Amino acid sequence: MRMMDKTEILINPRYVIALVAIVFTIWYMRRKRYSKPLPPGPTPWPLIGNIQQFARTDIPFHKMAIMLQEKYGNIVKLHAGPATFIFLMGKETVHKATHEMNDKFKYRPNTIVVIKHFFNKGIVFSNGEVNSALRKYTLGAMREFGVYKRSLEKRIQEEAGILCQVLESKNGQPCYLMDNFKMAVSNIIAGIIYGNRFEYDDPVFKRLLSDIESLFKYASLNLPENYLPFLRFLPGSKFKKLEKHFKDLESYVRTQIEEHRATFDPENLRDFVDMFLKMEGSEDPVTTEDNLHGVIAELFNAGTDTTANTIMWGILLLITYPDTQKKLRAEILKVVGTERYIRLEDKRNMPYLRAFLNEVQRFAAVVSQTPPHTVLEDTEFEGYTIPKNSNVGFVLFTLLHDADVWGDPDNFRPERFLNEAGEYVELNKDSFIPFSAGGRSCIGKHLARMELLLFFGTLVQKFEFKAPPGADLPSLERLQSELTCYAKPYEMCAIPFSQ
Ligand code: HEM
Repeated sequence: MRMMDKTEILINPRYVIALVAIVFTIWYMRRKRYSKPLPPGPTPWPLIGNIQQFARTDIPFHKMAIMLQEKYGNIVKLHAGPATFIFLMGKETVHKATHEMNDKFKYRPNTIVVIKHFFNKGIVFSNGEVNSALRKYTLGAMREFGVYKRSLEKRIQEEAGILCQVLESKNGQPCYLMDNFKMAVSNIIAGIIYGNRFEYDDPVFKRLLSDIESLFKYASLNLPENYLPFLRFLPGSKFKKLEKHFKDLESYVRTQIEEHRATFDPENLRDFVDMFLKMEGSEDPVTTEDNLHGVIAELFNAGTDTTANTIMWGILLLITYPDTQKKLRAEILKVVGTERYIRLEDKRNMPYLRAFLNEVQRFAAVVSQTPPHTVLEDTEFEGYTIPKNSNVGFVLFTLLHDADVWGDPDNFRPERFLNEAGEYVELNKDSFIPFSAGGRSCIGKHLARMELLLFFGTLVQKFEFKAPPGADLPSLERLQSELTCYAKPYEMCAIPFSQ
C-alpha cells in the first residue's frame, strides 16, 4: 500500500472528519456536567466567545441587555475568551440573588487580570472577612465623621456655597460644569478622609481627579488583556496607561498617610486616616497600610464620578423640563426661603425634591450594571447552573426601567413618587435599587443621598438652569462607559436669581 504524505493527510476529508470527531469526543467527555443546564445566551465562537457582543460600539450595553433579556429571559450567559459572564436582570431575579441567595452571590471574582493587578486591596474586590471588616470600619468612620451629622451637613453646605460662587462667576454664560461638580463631591470625600478640602484650581487636585477619571476609563473589564494576559506586554497596551495613573494615585495617597502619621495623636482622631492609623498594628490583620491605601483610592473612585454624574443628569433634566424646575424652586422657596441654606431636616417638608431626586436616579440609572459578583462553587439558581468563578453582573437598568413596574419608564416623571395629596411615597422598593442591594450594596449611599439633597437644593434655590440661547435642548441620550451610564456632555447657562 502506498504511504500518504503529510499534506495528503491534512486535506483528505475522511481524516479531517475523523480528527474533528476525536477532538469533539475528547471535549464532550471532559466537558463539565452540571445538574442543571447553563443559562441561555448567544452561541459563542471558539476561543473568542461572544466578543462581538462585548465589542459592539453602535449599541450601548444597557440597550443590548434589554435585547438579550427579551430574547433569552432574565438570566443570560455570554463568554469573553475563556471567561463566563452571567447577567441577572429583572426584579425577581436580582431580588433573589441579593436576598435569599445573597450568601452565594456576595463575592467578587479574583480572576480578572486588571483587578488582580491594580485593585486587589480595599473593599470593592475583597471577599469574606477582609471585605466585612473593611466595610464595617469604613461605614463606622463615615458615621463618625459625619454621615447624617450636623458637621458634615455644614461642610456640604459650605462646598455648595463655593460651587455657587463658581457658577455666579460665569455670569449666566454657557459653561460646561462636570469638572466643578466632580471637585465639589470629591472635596466632601476628602473632608471625611483627610479632614480638609482642595481649592478648585489646585494642580494636585486636578491631577488626582484626572487619575481617577483615567482609572475609570482604562480599567475596563472588557480589556482584551484580561483574557489574553500576554497582550499587556505589547506596545500600546492600556495596561501601561493604567499603571501610570495607578502609581500617581498611590503615591499621592501614601504621601497623605505619611503626613498624618507625622502629626498623629491617638487621643484626638481628626478623620478617617487617623481612625485607621489607630487600629493599625492591632491584632486585626485587615488594618494594613495597603488596605488603607486601597480604601481611600476606592472612596474617591466610587464616590466621585457616580455622584457628579447624577448631578449632571439632574441639571440636564431640569433644563429639559422647566415646569419641574419651577415646581422644585417654589417648594424650596416655601420651605427654606432665600436667606439660609437648605438643611437635611427640611427633607420631610419637601416631597417634591425627594420625588425629583428619586426620579433622577431611576431615570439616569447611573450605575446601569454592578461591578462583577461571582459564586465560589457551581450554584443552582432559578433552574440553571451558575458556574463557579463566572462574572455575574446585576443589570440594574432592567429594574429601574422595567415597563411592567413603572408603566412609562422612559418618561421623566417625579410625580410617580407622589400620591394624590402630593405626599412623598416609597414606591417599588424592590425595583428602585440604584445603589444595588444585598451584601455588596453601595456603602456610600447615605453620603450620596445627603450630597444630592443639599447640592441640588442649593443650586435650584440660587439659579435658573437653561440651555444656551438659540441652542437646542441638550440630548437625553444615554452614553455607556463600562458599568455606568452618563449624559452626553452639554453646556448650560446658570442664571442667578436676583435677591
Ligand atoms: C449616586 C451615587 C452612587 C451610586 C449610584 C452608587 C452605586 C453603587 C452600586 C450600584 C454599587 C455596586 C453594588 C453591587 O456590586 O451590588 C456600589 C458599590 C460601592 N460604592 Fe457606590 N454609588 C454611589 C456613590 C458612592 C459614594 C459617595 C461612595 C463612597 C464615598 C461609594 C462607595 C462604594 C463602594 C466602596 C462600593 C463597593 C462595595 C463592596 O463591594 O462591598 N459609592 N455603588
